[in-house]
Amino acid sequence: VLPGDIATATIGLLGGTGDQGRGLARRLAAAGHSVVLGSREPERAVAAANELRARRTHLDIRGDSNAAAAQSASVVIVAVPYAGHRELLTALAAELAGKLVIDCVNPTLFERGKPPSMIAVPEGSAAEEAAAVLPESTVVSAFHDVSAKLLLSSKRSIATDVLVCGDDAEANEWVCELAGRIRGMRGVNVGPLQLSNTLESLTLVLIGVNKRYKARSGVRITGI
Ligand SMILES: NC(=O)c1ccc[n+]([C@@H]2O[C@H](COP(=O)([O-])OP(=O)(O)OC[C@H]3O[C@@H](n4cnc5c(N)ncnc54)[C@H](OP(=O)(O)O)[C@@H]3O)[C@@H](O)[C@H]2O)c1
Repeated sequence: VLPGDIATATIGLLGGTGDQGRGLARRLAAAGHSVVLGSREPERAVAAANELRARRTHLDIRGDSNAAAAQSASVVIVAVPYAGHRELLTALAAELAGKLVIDCVNPTLFERGKPPSMIAVPEGSAAEEAAAVLPESTVVSAFHDVSAKLLLSSKRSIATDVLVCGDDAEANEWVCELAGRIRGMRGVNVGPLQLSNTLESLTLVLIGVNKRYKARSGVRITGI
């Protein structure tokens, strides 16, 4: 299921018109990848891709429907809000079969006047939900701890670790290598997919730190 040479992998982004999707698209395209932004409305993805290319003309980014992005890419990153996660992946199960699917969705609940909290996912986490509805795909959980604002910022390098988990050790390593292609980033393989709940919940920690320290925080694993 692993796409062969990492350097030539085409990356599809479901929900690629959002901050996280555009941010990852921009950084991965800057690392030399062909990127296809997906959207429920292909015109929105075309406009988002044009906008990213307008700033940096050499980037290989185009826009299409989510289904076309899933179909034409060898690796697909899921970057939709949790509210649309199960439905979208269920609908695209055929397009995603036999592919590596990287899930960065955080099932976070934002309610006015309350601190953010986690939505309980029956399977344990958003990434485990993805694995349940995509039995013919290899699901790896990653990029939960990377701020979209930083990805979209003018910073040339983003000094952070990307924590990666999944049940296929080779796929985890592949995704660590992919993360490492973004300048400043290091992928760290933390283990099986059942740890995704911890990675997704870490978002609450980072949101709290960002608020208190007026920062765009990330994580660093020391000692390795
Ligand atoms: N923002 C961050 O800093 C950050 C960091 C780490 C992880 N994440 C995770 O990444 C995901 C995307 O974050 P974001 O901030 O980019 O979110 P967003 O802007 O709210 O949504 C991303 C895109 O998803 C599509 N979408 C919205 N509702 C949908 C639905 N019900 N079904 C299918 N598609 C839907 C929209 O694209 P179209 O309307 O064009 O289809 C939208 O542009 C979230 O799960 C978030 O937890 C975000």
